[in-house]
Amino acid sequence: MQIIDGKATAAQIKAEIKAEVESIIASGGRAPHLAAVLVGHDGGSETYVRNKVLACEACGFQSTLLRYEDDITEAELLQVVDGLNNTPEVDGFIVQLPLPKHIDEQKVTEAILPEKDVDGFHPVNVGRMSIGLPAFISATPLGILTLLRRYNVETRGKKVAILGRSNIVGKPMASLMMQKQWGDSTVTVLHSHSANLAEECRQADILIAAIGSPAFVTADMVKPGAVVIDVGTTRVPDASRPSGFRLQGDVDFQAVSPLCSAITPVPGGVGPMTICMLMLNTLQAYKQRA
Ligand code: GUN
Repeated sequence: MQIIDGKATAAQIKAEIKAEVESIIASGGRAPHLAAVLVGHDGGSETYVRNKVLACEACGFQSTLLRYEDDITEAELLQVVDGLNNTPEVDGFIVQLPLPKHIDEQKVTEAILPEKDVDGFHPVNVGRMSIGLPAFISATPLGILTLLRRYNVETRGKKVAILGRSNIVGKPMASLMMQKQWGDSTVTVLHSHSANLAEECRQADILIAAIGSPAFVTADMVKPGAVVIDVGTTRVPDASRPSGFRLQGDVDFQAVSPLCSAITPVPGGVGPMTICMLMLNTLQAYKQRA
């Protein structure tokens, strides 16, 4: 069984990005610039955004963090987005989700200019990606595809089962895995109303778990020799940790890992790759504007 090391792979890709940025700067260019908007004080979002800013530093990017309290109105947030759309020094930006309930996330997402939407959440990018046109691709699915490629996991003609149908992971993952130029796989998407869910999972050569349900995938759901990708990162209480919690994936790692040919751990699997792909998308946004 091989551990697919997302942390090491992400570090390698960030070093490659940094080298490219250094050569841009050496030839008189400016650094790529990512801005992040964070509303409120959600613990998970604070951690993600902090890690995104740190990743910018590691890549030699300029970063700007714009923080607002959770009583910001939708109109005010839309003005912030409009300001970033019209700031030439900002190549790309993200609005960290989730947003407070009184703000329509879809409205905010659609207010971002598609050419600055490095999350790849705008319907223009989602649509272009789904028909195989150049687009910003949502960072988590892109990170998973990159891991599979860098670990030489064959996807062509393989059976892929995806647990979860979210707009951020499940749906774009399914779309990419089925496309000829990406996964070229046979894809099954499973969700809360799927019949024979365990049996469907057991058919899969590659199982991608993205349902946000801690340790949902048990040994009886995995075909021996399968590749298992765990997207889950749920904070579960753990009194033995100074923080009082630990991150638990969607996969029961202890029970499932001995069965697999390869598996991503949590933490250190998909998570670091997601942030790294955001950096790649930002570099792409920068190059498209240069
Ligand atoms: N919340 C959870 N994941 C993400 C992400 O990739 N981007 C943004 N903007 N918010 C998130």
